[in-house]
Amino acid sequence: DLSDGASTDLVARTGRASFLSGRDTSTIGYSQNFLGPVLRVRRGSIARPRVINELNRLVTAHWHGLHVPGEADGGPQLAIAPGRDWAPELEIDQPETTLWYHSHIHGETGPQVYQGLAGMMLLTDPDAGGDALPSEWGVDDIPLIIQDRTFDGSGQFAYSSAGPNRMMGFRGDRILVNGAIQPVASVAQGVVRLRILNGSNARIYRLSFDDGRDFRQIASDAGYLSRPSNISQFTLAPAERVELLVDLSDGAPVKLLSEADDNSPMAGMMGDTMGGMMGDMMGGGSPQAVDGSGRFEVMSLSPDRPTNDLSMPENLPLGPGAIPGEPVRRRAFDLSMSSMMGGGMGNSGGGMMGGGVMNRGGGMMGGGMMDRNHGGMMGGGMSLGINGQPYSMDRIDADVGLGDVEIWEVRADMMQHPFHVHGTSFQVLSANGRPVDFDTMGLKDVALVDQSMEIKISFDRTAPSAAPYMLHCHILEHEDAGMMAQFTVG
Ligand code: C2O
Ligand code: CU
Ligand code: CU
Repeated sequence: DLSDGASTDLVARTGRASFLSGRDTSTIGYSQNFLGPVLRVRRGSIARPRVINELNRLVTAHWHGLHVPGEADGGPQLAIAPGRDWAPELEIDQPETTLWYHSHIHGETGPQVYQGLAGMMLLTDPDAGGDALPSEWGVDDIPLIIQDRTFDGSGQFAYSSAGPNRMMGFRGDRILVNGAIQPVASVAQGVVRLRILNGSNARIYRLSFDDGRDFRQIASDAGYLSRPSNISQFTLAPAERVELLVDLSDGAPVKLLSEADDNSPMAGMMGDTMGGMMGDMMGGGSPQAVDGSGRFEVMSLSPDRPTNDLSMPENLPLGPGAIPGEPVRRRAFDLSMSSMMGGGMGNSGGGMMGGGVMNRGGGMMGGGMMDRNHGGMMGGGMSLGINGQPYSMDRIDADVGLGDVEIWEVRADMMQHPFHVHGTSFQVLSANGRPVDFDTMGLKDVALVDQSMEIKISFDRTAPSAAPYMLHCHILEHEDAGMMAQFTVG
């Protein structure tokens, strides 16, 4: 609890955890064997975490979604050397919401988060008026960090960002929630609030309940929606958060399921079915399917605790409003996978598609692409970047004026990319050229870009060139491979 200016130590350290019965897995965590504690911070106060690095490699702690200046943000420039510590002062001033934190070392974010350097952060606002919502922690207010992992024969985490994983992102074949494989949560018989974080490196979840029951979305990344929205399925890309209310007053146990994730470079080129198939073949592997449609179990909820006598709210506490003001500038960010391949390949609609790819038995599919280790296109030959350049810690890619309202157009190349910006929250104006309703999406700090997206954005904290903010794809293998840029605000 960092609510009252309190300080707490977060120690990045090695650990051991037993995910599989009878086997110990080597892990890392912040003050825990795996993951870190839930940090509670309060609007209007200063939080003072002290991050201590007991590992033998560089780490950071980045407060994902928190509006703090670049010097306190925990980006790659704020690496903590082995044996050293870092103690930022976090001035908390933004609407109540569910955030998270994770390590952010350039080129190492994927493996470090995979091994456990991540945790949840709750930002509370005593004036928000959230009292009518379920609030008994672990009973009817449940944090869920969903991640996928693969274990090798000796029970250790298996991970690789090479070859096809560099393109596809790494997906595991076991589903962990809060560090346990497909757990059962014992919850109140009543209205239950789920705060869900997709803490996976690359996997996109399409969540629903096994009995098809609907639920209400009450918040997205940056806080409460204008009003609850009734849905029965929800898509959650890496780093996104969603808060749901589900009515379990009938006492029936339910399973939270997800659809398989078919996001792959092939999907963009070949259409969904073929892309999904390629996704599976290239390592996107579906975890234990539970029904014929390819859905798999994430976890179960067992409403076997006393009822909380709550009902679904008609209104929500005050959330963040739409971004006010007239834009003064437009910028474009191309999340590129193919632009540095040269020749016809540079155009994802161009030479490559005209070649063997569309011919299913043809040259390219039969050629290097299918070769996991040496594939020309799927392997090391391809560069990931933004606006044609891979990330460099020594180059500032943009300077944004403090308080300026801007429109950013983000374009995705070859597959869907979850686009994230540090230091602020943004409003999605349109997706694939169609307007997006603010009331249903709310304010975001990560948004899944299908082909194109326009966002309205503004910053009220500064980031100097020595500690710039990042913008990047939150598929961590893409980020580590260079699909990231950095900018100052001032
Ligand atoms: Cu969740 Cu730049 O990170
Ligand atoms: Cu972030
Ligand atoms: Cu990406």
